[in-house]
Amino acid sequence: MNNGPSILKSFKFVSNTSVFIEENLCHYGGIFKLSIPFHSIYAIANPDVLQHVLVRNESNYIKSKIYWAQLRAVVGDALGTYEGEDWVWMKKLQMKSYTKEQAQGNLDEVIRSNDIHFSEWNTLEKPVDLIHAFSKLNVAILLKVLFGFEQSGLCERIAQYIAEGEETISWRSTFPWRPYTGWLNGRNQRYKKSIQYIGKLTDEIIENNLRETKVGSLIETLLSESDFTKEKARIDRDIIRNELIIHLGAGTETAAVGMGWVFYLLHKHPQIKKQLEDEIREIVGNDPVRPEHAYQLPFTDLVLKEALRLYPPSHGLVRDAVEKDQIGNLEVKPGDTFFISSYALHRNPEFWDRPNDFIPERFANEPQKYTYVPFGAGKHTCIGRYLARPMMILALAQFFQKYDFEMSVSEPVIPVSMATLKPNQPLYTRVVKRVRKNEIH
Ligand code: HEM
Repeated sequence: MNNGPSILKSFKFVSNTSVFIEENLCHYGGIFKLSIPFHSIYAIANPDVLQHVLVRNESNYIKSKIYWAQLRAVVGDALGTYEGEDWVWMKKLQMKSYTKEQAQGNLDEVIRSNDIHFSEWNTLEKPVDLIHAFSKLNVAILLKVLFGFEQSGLCERIAQYIAEGEETISWRSTFPWRPYTGWLNGRNQRYKKSIQYIGKLTDEIIENNLRETKVGSLIETLLSESDFTKEKARIDRDIIRNELIIHLGAGTETAAVGMGWVFYLLHKHPQIKKQLEDEIREIVGNDPVRPEHAYQLPFTDLVLKEALRLYPPSHGLVRDAVEKDQIGNLEVKPGDTFFISSYALHRNPEFWDRPNDFIPERFANEPQKYTYVPFGAGKHTCIGRYLARPMMILALAQFFQKYDFEMSVSEPVIPVSMATLKPNQPLYTRVVKRVRKNEIH
């Protein structure tokens, strides 16, 4: 392991974690220690250390108090925030609602929602803020397929709360005193208000689903383990509320930010955009997009993979060691933090040729193991991955079959490490209908 940057330089880590690690790769390599007083933080962009921490010795590494403690303080106990036996039980339970087959059964609904939202974007006079618009669309999809709830009027507000919640959690995680000063600048009050709102929404969702619920949906699975007539059920209303927040939070912003970056990359690479449009024209033509198209568009799939390499929305996989450990020459002490940056790993020149270039074809070959982890690795791997990928492919197929876009941004567009890796500015995008209905020109 190389010695890392000086104290002064290390503090820049706080302002843009993943980008800082990536910028320092050429000086310090893919494993280095930050010079931060009283706490050992290792910056990791190396597949062997990743495999050790997230997979091989995963029982010794838990979600870090950096960031996750704040997520837990704000959201409470839920799949993405706790560890231990309860978590194992909960993950196993919820996996039933996140199989490939279950995801495939939801794709008709994905297609229906995409149609409605894209045609709405097209009728707006002003350009859309693309990530916010996708976030709202994803809220609509996930509320329906996971929670059997349809209320299009609420999606804007929920998407807004999720974006604000993400910002608050990132803000509170940066310095230890912020959870307290959050009462002075109103942030804590705002998140409390949004949690109350989601609480009311949860009650409505539960009442609806107690009357009639969709077989195999997440809410059906959760309700199967709850009994509101008992004092202490394994799953109560608060847990369902927390799961609603986690699943909407983890599933809407990530996929929306991912789509934002795909569109930005296509805006920068018209030739690749044309190849993608050609594929959609050849394979889908003017027929309505169908669920099976999600698995029949190889070039679109490569574009998505490459976009998730360059800009992995969940860029930081952060863990704390429980017991002492040895990783190569590195002696790990209890409490040491590993900030594994998939953003920096995906751009590490030791493992990727021309790491900063957008080359979808590179994914025609499997990347080296543990060098590409947009959905994480090990026990906390993304539970929503079988839904997220077809959702994003179908969105691309449906969008480019009927629409084109013009994006206005002011360069440079820089990724900023919040809970997700967001661009430093809104991606304002005008959605233009293609000249003849259902036809790509
Ligand atoms: C492009 C879209 C997505 C990306 C890039 C993504 C990425 C990730 C990553 C990297 C993790 C692991 C975090 C860690 O190890 O610390 C994760 C966990 C998780 N994701 Fe996703 N995700 C996406 C979409 C979704 C969707 C659609 C859902 C649900 C509807 C979802 C639900 C979750 C949940 C609940 C966890 C926590 C799992 C656990 O702790 O066991 N994600 N996601």
